[in-house]
Amino acid sequence: MTPTQTLLGIESSCDDTAAAVVRGAPGDMHVLSSVVFGQAELHADFGGVVPEIAARAHAERLDVSIAAALEQADLGLDQIDAIAVTCGPGLIGGVVSGVMMAKGLSAATGLPLYGVNHLAGHALTPRLTDGVAFPYLMLLVSGGHCQFLIAHGPDKFERLGGTIDDAPGEAFDKVARLLGLGQPGGPAIEAISAHGNAVRFAFPRPLANKPGCDLSFSGLKTAVLRARDDLVAAQEGLHASDQADLAASFQAAVRDSLVGKSARALEAYLALNPHQPMFCVAGGVAANMAIRAGLEAVSSDLSVRFLAPPLSLCTDNAAMIAAAGIEQMAVRGPDGMALSARPRMPLDTERAGMLGSGKKGAKA
Ligand code: KG4
Ligand code: ZN
Repeated sequence: MTPTQTLLGIESSCDDTAAAVVRGAPGDMHVLSSVVFGQAELHADFGGVVPEIAARAHAERLDVSIAAALEQADLGLDQIDAIAVTCGPGLIGGVVSGVMMAKGLSAATGLPLYGVNHLAGHALTPRLTDGVAFPYLMLLVSGGHCQFLIAHGPDKFERLGGTIDDAPGEAFDKVARLLGLGQPGGPAIEAISAHGNAVRFAFPRPLANKPGCDLSFSGLKTAVLRARDDLVAAQEGLHASDQADLAASFQAAVRDSLVGKSARALEAYLALNPHQPMFCVAGGVAANMAIRAGLEAVSSDLSVRFLAPPLSLCTDNAAMIAAAGIEQMAVRGPDGMALSARPRMPLDTERAGMLGSGKKGAKA
């Protein structure tokens, strides 16, 4: 039996500085503390995350986050068994800040150091929350990523498909910006959509008729931009009701795309794993209730159990990194001082990166 481990997790790959302590063994873990310092206010004036500002804020806040996580868990570093840190993919300045902090702690204490793929943290969240057994189908849907994965093990993921351009969270953020809403865009769009007419604008559901489970969101974003510009030109401005209707129609299009492709991914998954009918979602966009409801409905149609994490474990956090560290400790040795920070870090290393997912190649 795998012994119980207590891990300190560190996350700084985008705009959340996070630290957490998680205790347990693979598939049977609980969160002792989880601290997240968001940076939304630092980036608010710029309409998006500014990498240099993010990196500086991480460098300033990592030690405070770690101290708070240890204090809330009521533990000292001498009661920790290992350190897990996000080593990619992400904004490199932030990832480097986290990795350097973790290396410093490891060097000072002698604790083993594990580098964790941020995406594995999201993808293994169902193991932390519910001890879900492998394999399961995972839709990882966040600000930077969108992919269907079969989770075979703590470090074995098979990608069935994903976005060929923007991630849905990125589309939520961009559409919020062009509607004059605040950032992050997802919660802002979800809130205003509650008052909007989701069928007023017939936005596209890109790649709906293409076989497979790849997705695309950049054309949808452009369609919202055109509809907004047409309204502004016709009536010299945007009424609050137009804003709500555009947001609701956009959210419905994202939901339908994700739900349609989830049906395809589930069919492919079930053909391979008929005895494990389990579909999980993770990542920031999984916080969206309309999208959750759609995914739940398609799962129920196919007699598949559906699981979505609590909101605090959907968006970026360090508990998922510590938990992934516990999972990976059981199957491999530590990375130690050889660990390097990586801006790009695919989960499924057997497949070529997704096309168009970044100017310099595949992000994941
Ligand atoms: O997983 P996450 O915290 O960071 C990444 O790894 O990307 O996801 C952040 C993304 C942002 O784009 C944000 O707009 C989106 O998740 N998001 C949402 C909601 N809450 C956060 N999107 C739609 N609806 C939400 N309620
Ligand atoms: Zn994330």
